[in-house]
Amino acid sequence: MDPPSNSEQRGKTKIANPKDAIKFIQRLPNPGSQVSAGFPALAEEKTMSQVAISPKLAQLLSSSQELIRSTKGFMPPDEGTALAVSLFNCSASFGYPAVEIGSYIGLSTLYLGLVAQHQRRVLISVDHHRGSQENQQGWEFHDPILVDPVSKKMDTLYLFRRTIDLAGLNDTVIVVAADSQIYANSFREGIGFLFIDGGHSLEQAEKDYEAWVPKIIPGGCLAIHDVYPDPSLGGQPPFILYQRSLREGFRVVVSQGSLRVMKKDSS
Ligand SMILES: C[S@@+](CC[C@H](N)C(=O)[O-])C[C@H]1O[C@@H](n2cnc3c(N)ncnc32)[C@H](O)[C@@H]1O
Repeated sequence: MDPPSNSEQRGKTKIANPKDAIKFIQRLPNPGSQVSAGFPALAEEKTMSQVAISPKLAQLLSSSQELIRSTKGFMPPDEGTALAVSLFNCSASFGYPAVEIGSYIGLSTLYLGLVAQHQRRVLISVDHHRGSQENQQGWEFHDPILVDPVSKKMDTLYLFRRTIDLAGLNDTVIVVAADSQIYANSFREGIGFLFIDGGHSLEQAEKDYEAWVPKIIPGGCLAIHDVYPDPSLGGQPPFILYQRSLREGFRVVVSQGSLRVMKKDSS
């Protein structure tokens, strides 16, 4: 079975000059949505071009640009960059683990993992690697190449591990192949940054919220993917989580495409 398009060669390209790295970031597609990424001054929304991306962050992302481009997944470059900026800037969370629910083949993990490695903290990436409902046969996002020919089940684990290997992130990413709620029940630490991109049914999304959001430390950040205020553009469960977070002491710091990042009240 031919694997999907992860490049076989190691994905890192060293860019010596930070200005080249910034040019790479500026070339990323921006569908015109708004980003408000000013930490700690968060009051005003800014467009992507107004966001200050530090040369260090630009260099981190550009060093793995080939791998990012060739990894299958559900994270467009502008949203991935906004996700990386959010983790980079969520200073209250430094020293605490970052947690991702929904690794798939590791595209969002690259954006988060490169930053976490720079910050010398771990990124715990949780996925049962059996695919969500929409990844199963007969559904819109099914990819037959991801079906294990023996078990006949979806299996993204080996490709996810390959992505982590190629990115040189084995010292940073803790791979958890488990159901997110089962793992949450045994996880007692505070977390600095949580990214929710797992099961997208209302039941599953609410379970993830309830299991993981209370673990976020004051001043920590919550990122939710696939937030569509307009139901004609996408399913509503992530939007429902987003609205709930605003009622429960979070405020938006980044809004890019369907990505929303909120910061937890530090009081
Ligand atoms: C939309 S994909 C994640 C996409 C990924 N973040 C990316 O950037 O490409 C959702 C993932 O959530 C996983 N998932 C769904 N329900 C889960 C659950 N209850 N526990 C763990 N993982 C789950 C699926 O296996 C799938 O890989």
